Amino acid sequence: MTTPPLTHQPRKLSAEGITKTFGGVTAVSDVSFEVIPGTIHALIGPNGAGKSTCFNVLTGVYRPTAGTVRLGDEMLTDCRPHEVAKLGVGRTFQNIALAERLSVRDNLMLARHRLTRAGFVATGLGLPGARREQRRHLERVREIAEFVGVTHLLSQPTGTLSYGDQKRVELARALCIEPSVLLLDEPVAGLNASESRHMARQILDIRDQLGVSVLLVEHDMGLVMSIADRVTVLDFGRLIAEGTPAHVQQDPAVLSAYLGTAAGATSGDQSSAPLTSSTTGSTP
Ligand SMILES: Nc1ncnc2c1ncn2[C@@H]1O[C@H](COP(=O)(O)OP(=O)(O)OP(=O)(O)O)[C@@H](O)[C@H]1O
Ligand SMILES: [Mg+2]
Repeated sequence: MTTPPLTHQPRKLSAEGITKTFGGVTAVSDVSFEVIPGTIHALIGPNGAGKSTCFNVLTGVYRPTAGTVRLGDEMLTDCRPHEVAKLGVGRTFQNIALAERLSVRDNLMLARHRLTRAGFVATGLGLPGARREQRRHLERVREIAEFVGVTHLLSQPTGTLSYGDQKRVELARALCIEPSVLLLDEPVAGLNASESRHMARQILDIRDQLGVSVLLVEHDMGLVMSIADRVTVLDFGRLIAEGTPAHVQQDPAVLSAYLGTAAGATSGDQSSAPLTSSTTGSTP
């Protein structure tokens, strides 16, 4: 397998005192944590704890009501999503967000457009410099597709792919921006046990082979506890615990947050999953 070179230098992603309110609802309240370069950091908590809102603040989709976001020395707080991506923060979404009618290759090439120096006009006119650059991007798209195992799907429209394959293409697309930090929102939700194991292995490879740090939101506690280096736990928008998987698993506040929701959990609500057992057997 080709190991793609690292474009961005590893940098620490820091959230400092993040608060986000929507009208009268405080979705996230004074949350601070750091994603250390070269680590897998999990952000967990029951449904509605504020995990996706945190992601949206970290990636410029929402401007925080208070607090700052930094990547290394760069301030991201007031950046738009495409600027955050350009600075090196990639993401996937809780709900898959691919252009369904476009091929996998075109979805991945679109993601690389932010890295393209030659303008659209030069590319359209087929000028030599632009053609060379296009070839380089295509080559890189092939490497990344190989890394996540979707080379055989490059010509297919993404809308025709299975859910598991679409998740992998989304991951490939996030890697196409050459991130130094990758944010994954529920990467194994909806996957079967074997697909989940494969995704867990892939996330470890992203850390170990690409040197990209990962911030992971996931309800599958088996996955979180087996691959995360550090875990931050939210409940009702507040940070209630932080530490190694072994540490947070024992934390009374964490246990009570999860047990508390178990009482009122509806079927399909995975937030009540026990902290110590895998819901999908996803140990890589
Ligand atoms: N755009 C919005 N407008 C109003 N309220 C919102 C908005 N987005 C999130 N919320 C509220 O903020 C809180 C946190 O939601 P969020 O989606 O961040 O939780 P989550 O931890 O990602 O939950 P889940 O595990 O279900 O995905 C919830 O009470 C939610 O209803
Ligand atoms: Mg969410």
